[in-house]
Amino acid sequence: IQDGQVRTPPMGWLSWERFRCTTDCSAYPDDCISDKLLRQMADHLAADGFVKAGYNHVIVDDCWLAKTRDVKGRLQPDAARFPQGMKPLADYIHSKGLKFGLYEDVGAKTCAGYPGSEHYFQLDAQTFADWTVDYLKFDGCNYHPSQYQFGYPNMNFFLNMTGRQIVLSCEYALYEKSFQKPNYTAQAQVCHLSRNFDDIDDSWDSLLSIIKFYGENNGDFAAVAGPGYFNDPDMLIIGNFGLSPDQERVQMAVWCILAAPLMISNDLRKIRKSSKDLLLNKMAIAVNQDELGVQGRRVNMIGNVEIWSKPILPAGSYAFAFVNRNTGVPTKITLSLTQYTEQFWLKENTNQKVKELLSNAPAVVAYNVTEIFENIYEGVFKPRQSFTKFVNPTGAYFAIATAIYQPK
Ligand code: GLA
Ligand code: GLA
Repeated sequence: IQDGQVRTPPMGWLSWERFRCTTDCSAYPDDCISDKLLRQMADHLAADGFVKAGYNHVIVDDCWLAKTRDVKGRLQPDAARFPQGMKPLADYIHSKGLKFGLYEDVGAKTCAGYPGSEHYFQLDAQTFADWTVDYLKFDGCNYHPSQYQFGYPNMNFFLNMTGRQIVLSCEYALYEKSFQKPNYTAQAQVCHLSRNFDDIDDSWDSLLSIIKFYGENNGDFAAVAGPGYFNDPDMLIIGNFGLSPDQERVQMAVWCILAAPLMISNDLRKIRKSSKDLLLNKMAIAVNQDELGVQGRRVNMIGNVEIWSKPILPAGSYAFAFVNRNTGVPTKITLSLTQYTEQFWLKENTNQKVKELLSNAPAVVAYNVTEIFENIYEGVFKPRQSFTKFVNPTGAYFAIATAIYQPK
């Protein structure tokens, strides 16, 4: 949506992958979806450097709602778990320098079976605005397959009518995909974000399946992304249980290259230091937040090693990653920078804005290369010079190649 919002991918914390639909607060007092949990996460985001790094949303996913609407038909949170209601919670989150997001569904019920927004779009949009909600994750369970193309634009319309700036995150493409080819161009007019693939789970297999889907880029959804609209490969699982430190680096590298929303779903009260440092890596975040807003692409595969790259500013510069899907021992990769810089982005990619930018950029004679995870300066490399790296098994090498121009 070109309304000035979401010029770069949004960042923050989202409850679903780590806390799911935990509603039993007597059995799980610290982990149930509640006012307390959200306030604690807001506290950690603010106190532990996350807000400063850009992670400025707290978003509650499914299972915050009461089983029924109130007597006036309005949505209401579960009274035991949100005793003060949503507005005081929003005020608290805002007081920490954060924005407040919540989850609803376009259909009759949410995926977990709570009241959905079908037949109530206008009332619900107004309720969210009254609560000072800043971000709506709008799911697509329990709806009529042919109606998504009306439901999502309608919710966009009613959010707009409230006059409050609210980010609209859709799962439009994910549900539409099951019965027809999603029209990404149309979705980009009515959504700021588009979840277009399966839910992430806390495992390497799940992560790989998403990376594969984005690498294949069927339907060329990558070309549609840019300031105002980004594709969403789902939450960051860094800091949980299923990934090794190397595998966590894979997710961070690929999500930053994809210009994906960086939505952490972990328990910030218990996160390992290495995971925290990775999430707070300034250079990685700068790649993700680069103002061009280009969704990077898998530009090549060398055996089981994927080569990814993303054009960033200044024009002619790139972030790139080698993602090693091999297990066993480190894999040696040798190639020239030009293979995943101009060669791909000028010839094979379909994003016209990027092509124009690169063809108008001054001639690049070399790159300054800096590795991102350890912040190691690798030196100056000519475009055709060979570049060799050992990449850890199920790990990634991630770097920035900054253009050095021909002197005028
Ligand atoms: C769907 C979504 C998830 C999550 C759950 C909640 O599966 O894709 O991200 O919101 O619903 O029930
Ligand atoms: C319009 C408004 C935004 C926001 C979105 C939601 O574009 O201008 O503030 O509410 O709708 O889809």
